[in-house]
Amino acid sequence: MPASIIDGTELARQIRADVAREVSERLQAGKPQPGLATVLVGDDPASHDYVRSKHKACNEVGIRSFGNELPANASQKEVEDLVRKLNDDPEVNGILVQLPLPKGLDEERILSLIDLSKDVDGFHPINVGRLAQKGREPLFVPCTPAGCMVMLEKYCDRIEGKNAVVLGRSNIVGMPVALLLVRANATVTICHSRSADLPGIIRQADILVTAVGRPEMVRGDWIKPGAVVIDVGINHVDDATKKRGYRLVGDVKFDEAVEVAGAITPVPGGVGPMTIAMLLKSTLYASKLAHG
Ligand code: GUN
Repeated sequence: MPASIIDGTELARQIRADVAREVSERLQAGKPQPGLATVLVGDDPASHDYVRSKHKACNEVGIRSFGNELPANASQKEVEDLVRKLNDDPEVNGILVQLPLPKGLDEERILSLIDLSKDVDGFHPINVGRLAQKGREPLFVPCTPAGCMVMLEKYCDRIEGKNAVVLGRSNIVGMPVALLLVRANATVTICHSRSADLPGIIRQADILVTAVGRPEMVRGDWIKPGAVVIDVGINHVDDATKKRGYRLVGDVKFDEAVEVAGAITPVPGGVGPMTIAMLLKSTLYASKLAHG
């Protein structure tokens, strides 16, 4: 029997509707409107697209959004001064520094300047450190990993005790999703492009999260029958039959994996929409931290 398709668009729609309702109730109760500030440095087209989508989503749920753009040659001090200014701005509840930053900027230092209570992306070293430690609670967790967990909680009958394999070890997805799975009591293996015998490791996975950015690398016969597969990859591949000249595929060869897995996310329409939905939820939470 083919896998259930995990509909990220629909799940994200529900989360956005919940955020919109709560924002509206808070406004009626006289609370200030939540606000998200984005910091976009340079002219990477994909980053511009992502940030534009984040602003559009904010506006749709009643969250104010403040765009801040700096040129690719902005100095470390200019970016730091901007973050400090946003920390001090009471209308800004969440600060999102779009990554990657242009080469030459010290990303760790910039992220560590964000006020902890405004760190809606969860990339401040203290939030990351708390995520990695037993008995500590981060104020925020990174949005894409949080979205993966919402999907797993819905489609995996139980996470505790399962073998979870995370393919990829990035700061943005692989590492934090692995930490969230550990916190959910899964037995977690992190593997990556240099791991020996990737198919053998992945065949052990009851839960598989892929975030390596390699188009259709994971084949159907690498998947354990019945596994829940969360494909975070969004890869462009040339396709002359499409008007725009390319199509989007994940890290998993979907047509093969769908015949073996128990549940699987499509690309597009899987994890992608969840990232922004979780950002909206975190921004609402930041506003609650600030205003009760
Ligand atoms: N770049 C790719 N994904 C993300 C994300 O979730 N947050 C930020 N700030 N940058 C990103």
